[in-house]
Amino acid sequence: MKITFYGHACFGIELAGKHILFDPFITGNQLAKDIDLGSIPADYILLSHGHQDHVLDVEAIAHRTGATIVSNFEIVSWFGAKGLSNGHPMNHGGSWKFDFGVVKYVNAVHSSVLPDGNYGGNPGGFVIESEEGNFYYSGDTALTYDMKLIGESHDLDFAILCLGDNFTMGYKEASRAAEFVGVSRVIGMHFDTFGYIKIDHSQVEDYFISEGKMLKLPEVGESFEM
Ligand code: NI
Ligand code: MN
Repeated sequence: MKITFYGHACFGIELAGKHILFDPFITGNQLAKDIDLGSIPADYILLSHGHQDHVLDVEAIAHRTGATIVSNFEIVSWFGAKGLSNGHPMNHGGSWKFDFGVVKYVNAVHSSVLPDGNYGGNPGGFVIESEEGNFYYSGDTALTYDMKLIGESHDLDFAILCLGDNFTMGYKEASRAAEFVGVSRVIGMHFDTFGYIKIDHSQVEDYFISEGKMLKLPEVGESFEM
């Protein structure tokens, strides 16, 4: 499947001819200043939690594309009240079969408040199962033993994991998370965007190599196949 990294925790993934966009935060990200918000395709926008660095550009993209917003009940309702009524609410442990594959909303240990202070429900991540492959998108989270349940319940090909530390797990925990969910291929996210989460790329990459895993730290704007 083709994956494009738009910076921070924002990825566009093509599955079954559909464009799935995760956690759009472009216009507030200096590292993504060369990304053209108006040309990002989206049929679905999947949101892990309500923090600004995950939902900032949802309205602009959803208004332009008419994309379906998929997240927890509270976040979907919040966008619904803004006139973006094309939403699909979920909650932890629930799965739904969309036309591109099955989405499961899974646990994350983090917090979730919407930009205006409204309650953002409990934060989550996603497991996506499709004919083109299965993967886990962690959202913002600590390392948790719940990830073992994901590994036991799903046959995953790779995982997209936060690893910038401070607000989420760091890279050593992300490596353990990969073991818990049963993958050896990891795409990193939630690094370098602000000072608290700057990482030393070669140190992190060397650690994953020493652990026998493949880590990709994508460049902003880069597209690649997984
Ligand atoms: Ni967050
Ligand atoms: Mn975040």
